[in-house]
Amino acid sequence: MSNTTNTTTSGNQTLTVSLGERSYPIFVGDVGFSDPAKLANGIAPFIKGNQVAVITNETIAPLYLQQILAALGNRQVDVFQMQDGERYKSLDTYTQVMDFLLEKKHNRSTCLIALGGGVVGDLCGFVAATFQRGVDFIQVPTTLLSQVDSSVGGKTAVNHPAGKNMIGAFYQPLAVFADISVLTTLPDREYAAGLAEVVKYGIIYDADFFTWMEDNAQALAQRDEAALTHIITRSCEVKAAVVSEDEREGGRRAILNYGHTFGHAIEKLLGYGRLLHGEAVSIGMVMAARLSVEFSGLPLEDCQRIEKLLQQLNLPVTLEGLALKSEDMIEAMGMDKKVVDGELRFVVADQMGTVRVAADVSIVALEKTLAEFC
Ligand SMILES: NC(=O)c1ccc[n+]([C@@H]2O[C@H](COP(=O)([O-])OP(=O)(O)OC[C@H]3O[C@@H](n4cnc5c(N)ncnc54)[C@H](O)[C@@H]3O)[C@@H](O)[C@H]2O)c1
Ligand SMILES: [Zn+2]
Repeated sequence: MSNTTNTTTSGNQTLTVSLGERSYPIFVGDVGFSDPAKLANGIAPFIKGNQVAVITNETIAPLYLQQILAALGNRQVDVFQMQDGERYKSLDTYTQVMDFLLEKKHNRSTCLIALGGGVVGDLCGFVAATFQRGVDFIQVPTTLLSQVDSSVGGKTAVNHPAGKNMIGAFYQPLAVFADISVLTTLPDREYAAGLAEVVKYGIIYDADFFTWMEDNAQALAQRDEAALTHIITRSCEVKAAVVSEDEREGGRRAILNYGHTFGHAIEKLLGYGRLLHGEAVSIGMVMAARLSVEFSGLPLEDCQRIEKLLQQLNLPVTLEGLALKSEDMIEAMGMDKKVVDGELRFVVADQMGTVRVAADVSIVALEKTLAEFC
C-alpha cells in the first residue's frame, strides 16, 4: 500500500495513511492555530454530526483550547479536562470521560477531539473506540512525540496497575492535525524526547533522512519551523509505511521497537518517570547500535554517527550517573514483553537505514555490549 504526501504553496504537508477504508490524512505545518477560519475549514469536513467533545488536559487547555473552540462554531461542544500525567491514562479517567459523555447526552454521531500529547491521544482514542461501540475521533497532537509517533498507527490504550497500555484497541482517527506552532511551548526535555523517535525512523528505514538530520542538527535543536515540518512529515511517512504493511504488529511493525528493548529495561529499572521515554530510548538506540556492530556487522562509524547526532539533539547516550548493573538490565529485558517463546528479540541494524528482528542474539554479545555501558 502506498502513502502519498502533497506539499501546498504554504509549505504545509498532507500525508495519507493508507489503510483501505480506514485510511486517513495527516495535516502537518500551519494547520490553523493562528487562524480559526483556516482550522475550521480544515476540521469541518470530518465532523458529521452536531456534537463534539474535546478531551484535553489542565496544561494544554490554557494554551490551545481557545483556538480549537473558535474553530468548532455553533455545534454542541463539551470539554473534558483531565489531570496532567501518565498516571491519569487510567481506567479511572476513562470511566470519568464515559460518564461525562453520557451526562452530556452524546450519541453515536458525536466526534471526539484529542487535544494533547500521547497521554490524551491514547486515552481519547480508547474512549472513541468503545463509546457506544465506536465513534469518530480526530487527533490534534501537541507534543513532538505525539505528532511523529503516537497519533499515527491506531494504537489506543489506558494503563493498568500491572502494566502500561494493558487495556486498549486498534482504532484509527478520521484525521490528524499536527500544527508545528504548538511545539514552541513544549519543555526542552519533552521536545528532545520526541526527537529520539525521529532519529529512530532514520536508523530503521531511511539512511538519507538520517544524513539530513545530521546536516540540520542545529536547526532541529533550535526548533526551526521548516526543519520541523520536514521531520514530522517524514516521520509520519515512515511510521505510516511500516504500519500499512503490518497494522496489527504481526511482524514487520516490530522494527519500530528499535532501541526499545534496552530503553524499556532502563525505564523499568530506574522507575517510570525518572527518564522520559524518549531519553531512555536514546540510550537504548546507542546500545542497540553497539550490539549491531558486534552482532550484525553495522560499521562502527555508523554507530558513532548515531551517538553523535543524539548528543547534538541534547539527548543522553550513556548510563553515566544512573548506577545500573548489567545483570539487572538482562533480567529486566528477560521480563520484557518482546520476549516471544522464551527468545529475546532485538531489532538490530545491518547498516544505516536497514534493520531486522533477530531472535538469535547470544547472551555473550549482549553482555559484551552492556559491559561498555554499565
Ligand atoms: N499510541 C501509540 O502508538 C503510542 C506511541 C508512543 C507513545 N505512546 C504513549 O504516549 C504517551 C506519551 O506521550 P507524550 O510524550 O506526548 O507525553 P504527554 O502526553 O504526557 O505530554 C508530555 C507533557 O507535555 C505537556 N504538553 C503537551 N503539549 C504541550 C505543548 N504544546 N506545550 C506545553 N506543554 C505541552 C503535557 O501536558 C505533558 O505534561 C505515553 O502514554 C505512551 O505510552 C503511544
Ligand atoms: Zn517509543
